[in-house]
Amino acid sequence: MLKINKLNSGYGKLQVLYDLSIEIPEKGITVVVGPNGAGKTTLLCSIMGIADVSSGEVEFQGNSIRALPSYLLARQGISYVPQMGNVFAELSVRDNLQMAGYLLPTAKAKKKAEQMTVMFPVLKKFIDRKAATLSGGERRMLAVAMGLMKDPKLMLLDELSTDLAPIIAEKVISEVARLRDELGITILLVEQMAKRALEIGDTAYLLVSGGVRFAGKARELLNEPELCNMYLGIKQPAAQNIPSIEGSR
Ligand SMILES: Nc1ncnc2c1ncn2[C@@H]1O[C@H](COP(=O)(O)OP(=O)(O)OP(=O)(O)O)[C@@H](O)[C@H]1O
Ligand SMILES: [Mg+2]
Repeated sequence: MLKINKLNSGYGKLQVLYDLSIEIPEKGITVVVGPNGAGKTTLLCSIMGIADVSSGEVEFQGNSIRALPSYLLARQGISYVPQMGNVFAELSVRDNLQMAGYLLPTAKAKKKAEQMTVMFPVLKKFIDRKAATLSGGERRMLAVAMGLMKDPKLMLLDELSTDLAPIIAEKVISEVARLRDELGITILLVEQMAKRALEIGDTAYLLVSGGVRFAGKARELLNEPELCNMYLGIKQPAAQNIPSIEGSR
């Protein structure tokens, strides 16, 4: 669905991504993980035309989208939920959803907002509350619901779990699997909670210093103890290292 070929990009003179090639298959979750500063957010910003792309190609459903402004990308069905500042704190939950549906005719936006409160009951409960008063997890759900208001084909999600307690982060990430399974949305998921993200993901890329260090199935990356340990802080014994109980009786 999305194809990135030999992308070089960054901010002004600062180059962050080097000859990066990534493919995002339709109706799956592609997980991008890597250490802080690796360039994960820059990758999303490059797709959204926010970072400076010096060379390379970005194709969405076979057409180049390089350097298209964000509102045109939204019209094509790409929805971006940024790492920070993804809700309007001073507006109510209802108004946030309405704002997110600005591209839709009013009646459709209203219907869609209702659907969102069915999908995320917590939003219904707090529909008239200011977004500023929601908890971190609730705010993240609102941000995802706002992304969904645009009826996206592809969602770019940047670190939904940041600053959340593990149990809430787990809940938010599980919601992402639901978007794929129930709505058939293609997802590019950038996550610090690498283990959980790789468990629900289909395809995975490990980004290190602006380049791809691993590309393959998400589960396969979990089976690379060295990469997991060195770059993702996942410490798990490889299957063959688990002590056998044979002979212990
Ligand atoms: N707007 C900006 N202007 C200049 N440099 C930036 C900007 N945003 C990010 N950078 C730099 O680009 C590099 C990559 O940052 P990026 O935000 O893409 O990393 P990341 O992989 O998303 O990290 P994290 O896991 O901490 O979110 C970093 O060295 C960062 O300091
Ligand atoms: Mg980031």
